[in-house]
Amino acid sequence: MKNNFYVTTPIYYANDKPHIGHAYTTVAADVLARFHKLQKQDVFLLTGTDEHGLKIQKVAEKSGKNPQEFVDGIVGEYKKLWKDLNIEYSNFIRTTDENHKKAVQKVLQTLYDKSAIYKGEYEGLYCIGCEQFKNENELVDGKCPDHETVPEKLREECYLLKMTEKQKELIEKIEKNEFEIAPEKYKNEILSFLKSQALKDISISRKNVKWGIELPFNKEHTTYVWMEAFLNYLTGLGWDGLEEVRPLSAKTTIRGRTSDLDFWPPDVQLIGKDILRVHATIWPIMLLHLGLPLPKLLFTHGHILSGGKKMSKTLGNVITIEEVLEKFGVDGTRYLLLSAGTFGSDVDVTMERLIEKYNADLANGLGNLVSRFVKLNDLMIPIGSNVALYKKEMLEKMEFDQCLNFVWSKIRNMNKFIEDNKPWELAKTDQEKFTHVMQQLYFGIYEISESLIPFMPETSEKIKKALETKESTILFQRIK
Ligand code: MSP
Repeated sequence: MKNNFYVTTPIYYANDKPHIGHAYTTVAADVLARFHKLQKQDVFLLTGTDEHGLKIQKVAEKSGKNPQEFVDGIVGEYKKLWKDLNIEYSNFIRTTDENHKKAVQKVLQTLYDKSAIYKGEYEGLYCIGCEQFKNENELVDGKCPDHETVPEKLREECYLLKMTEKQKELIEKIEKNEFEIAPEKYKNEILSFLKSQALKDISISRKNVKWGIELPFNKEHTTYVWMEAFLNYLTGLGWDGLEEVRPLSAKTTIRGRTSDLDFWPPDVQLIGKDILRVHATIWPIMLLHLGLPLPKLLFTHGHILSGGKKMSKTLGNVITIEEVLEKFGVDGTRYLLLSAGTFGSDVDVTMERLIEKYNADLANGLGNLVSRFVKLNDLMIPIGSNVALYKKEMLEKMEFDQCLNFVWSKIRNMNKFIEDNKPWELAKTDQEKFTHVMQQLYFGIYEISESLIPFMPETSEKIKKALETKESTILFQRIK
């Protein structure tokens, strides 16, 4: 059995700085990655930026910069945020990386030579925000519901990818969970979509978009941005675009290794619900055409809402990731993001609720427990264990909030245990019982810190240090 674990985030559009939704996926991916490292697996976490296409070409023009300069600035912001959030990624792929561009061209040539790509014409309604053609029935009052803009009517010569040819095979793989889509409701949604109609071949090139990767067989066209974006999941491992997944030349190294292709296929691909359809159709069909194994699991999470609504500047309900980080710190932010609700459904946040939860769970719950213990403790003999308060399977099923619930129920029990046993009195009256109580507390807190490693790595370290050094510690201050 391969002892590898490969997890990916979507690559984020470099048209604007990162927001809380991007942080949500990336923190989740980092928790998974850290958890699998604890299972002694060799882990690869890939994230990065999607830098080509009309949307980016337009914002760069507006800002008076050339697109490359523009995206370089945005990439700096992403990298800074991932550092601030303590994300241990293995590679940060940029679609303007030379190896990505070359690999994409090789793939296109291969698909063209195989006749999976052919020349034709496409007519449709194009939403620049989504960088996708939309069907009439996907629009609300003639507008794209995600971007609230009227899509442009486009008719142009382009190259198309054959979709229907692979539709049956795709359905079978989804049904057999060879290409698993989770949660179940999304699997059903995709299956009913695939069974209800023959997929339309999709345009994979644009004639009037300059900012993109030129088609190797027709320099007047650039590659459709989604087509190349998907390939990041392969090029980010160092794939050179040749048909088989095989290592690059010895000269190219990623993370000090020749290549990381033995990680293929991904164990988990995390995506938001708005990009499920493309990830469950175009992406696997490209892989089927190339004869490459499909990802094992495509896991779809919901959106972060603010006060029940989509965040928007007009509504004034935007919560920025910067303000969350500034207020709650790195582990506070990681905790609040993943405990906000079920990963897989929409989760609603407001600043008031975040503060409330922070004070209740972190300052009063965890922080209080550890500092009470430390104040009481001067007799302890450390006893090591390697335990977690939730089942491995729960975390693997992305039940982040449930895992945290188990940990917090232990924290509440431990705090109650202190109140019930009043160790400060026992210390004076019954040394034997006092030691016993403290040992139980030590063991409980140790379990808590072990369970928190993937979620709150710095806090977990601090707790362990506090247990060893017996120094008074303040983990979380109350926030007003
Ligand atoms: N570039 C494409 C993805 C290509 S992957 C081959 C893209 N980029 S994006 O920046 O627009 O969105 C990236 C991810 O952020 C998506 O998974 C999307 O669902 C997610 N989110 C955007 N807004 C979000 C929230 N408010 N909440 C949670 N996730 C959100 O699409």
